[in-house]
Amino acid sequence: MTCAPPSESISKSGFASLLFRKLKTLLSNPRTLMRYVNAKYEALYQARLNSLWSQQDYVLSNMGLCDKAFYEANKSVTEIEHQVGRYLNMKNICEEIVATGLEGDVVEFGTWQGLGLILLSRCFSGDRTRRKLIGIDSFEGLPESSTVWRKGTFSNTSIEEVKRNTESKMGPNDRLSVELIKGWFSDRAVEEELSALCKEIALVHFDADLGSSTTQALALIQPYLINRTKPVYFLFDDWGCHPDEVPDAFLNWLSGARATLSLQAHKLCSTRFTRYYKITFNH
Ligand SMILES: C[S@@+](CC[C@H](N)C(=O)[O-])C[C@H]1O[C@@H](n2cnc3c(N)ncnc32)[C@H](O)[C@@H]1O
Repeated sequence: MTCAPPSESISKSGFASLLFRKLKTLLSNPRTLMRYVNAKYEALYQARLNSLWSQQDYVLSNMGLCDKAFYEANKSVTEIEHQVGRYLNMKNICEEIVATGLEGDVVEFGTWQGLGLILLSRCFSGDRTRRKLIGIDSFEGLPESSTVWRKGTFSNTSIEEVKRNTESKMGPNDRLSVELIKGWFSDRAVEEELSALCKEIALVHFDADLGSSTTQALALIQPYLINRTKPVYFLFDDWGCHPDEVPDAFLNWLSGARATLSLQAHKLCSTRFTRYYKITFNH
């Protein structure tokens, strides 16, 4: 079968005269020209900011800027909205954990190069409790493709790199001791290593992108919730990136867990991509 020819085609000379007419309009109308130049400049500036704020070192060396006023003034830049927004919300939650004396470790599912772990450790700086900060990752990237991601994305890391990053980039007052577990969340060995390392959990950072991985992470956390009376905080990093994945995984899990674990989920805050919950128990 052949394709129908395009209904409108443009010759080289037709294109040149179109370009010429556009240029003539812009040059003969300084206001239009200024608007055009401003829009182009703004787009380039936003792209540059997005690229900078997606880099771990840039985020960490600009933590001093990360307050509510900076967030409000810059939240149109996707990566600032994400990185600064999630850090400010994490900080509020970690401060609440410290202020209420809630004991327990901090577990992150999906560490990649360690930025989430470092942000969490900064949020707990000054905490006197001896908590562990446990990061779990395959260090081989995503196990499968999804609506948005490709299998293997985020494989540009290693357990050694995350060790180096957390050791060198955590702040001088960060007291959490970092433990890393290498493996797939569905591996029995990961479950055994986690239960050997961690007896109680205060906060879980779910940052593994996929719905299937989030379901496996929730299954690993479930034993820690049996007969629990104290709250626990669930921080979902990828809630809004692909709403058909992480929200479905959590809400499906929640519909069963409400009855079996006698718990309730309270939404605390969200950004474009993240959503954070406090889980309480009715015992
Ligand atoms: C978005 S990255 C984590 C980003 C990191 N937390 C940060 O703040 O920069 C997602 C990570 O989850 C890991 N991951 C996803 N599904 C996994 C699974 N089922 N088992 C082990 N690791 C998994 C990937 O290897 C990847 O490193």
